[in-house]
Amino acid sequence: MPKQSPLATVEEMTEGRSVKFNFKRGRKKIEGFVACYQGQVVAFENECRHLPVSLDYGLGRFFTRDGRYFICQTHSALYDPRSGLCVEGPCAGQKLKPIPLKIKDGLIFLDYNRMPSSTKSTGIPSRTG
Ligand code: FES
Repeated sequence: MPKQSPLATVEEMTEGRSVKFNFKRGRKKIEGFVACYQGQVVAFENECRHLPVSLDYGLGRFFTRDGRYFICQTHSALYDPRSGLCVEGPCAGQKLKPIPLKIKDGLIFLDYNRMPSSTKSTGIPSRTG
């Protein structure tokens, strides 16, 4: 696996901050996002579990105004930022797809070794915003 660039730095991931990135799964391009919630850095695929559309509608906004949930901009499904569980909305009970991360020397990387084997990813992730 070629050396990958960090998705973000730990320092820039302040509370409520999110950063989008792309990576490839086979030939398919996947968009993900890293976010900081209650001091914890989490990452999920940027796809609602109700319909296959991005949560942020391309706007780069994932959190509700009060910062307690991720919100889908299309029909307002609310997701727990720690687990990705949809707690309210048309897909209640379903979970966002998590993306494993590793942190080294203050840098945040996608962790290919912890990707589920059925969803093994390839290619180098690139930050998009
Ligand atoms: S597409 Fe996300 S709640 Fe409907």
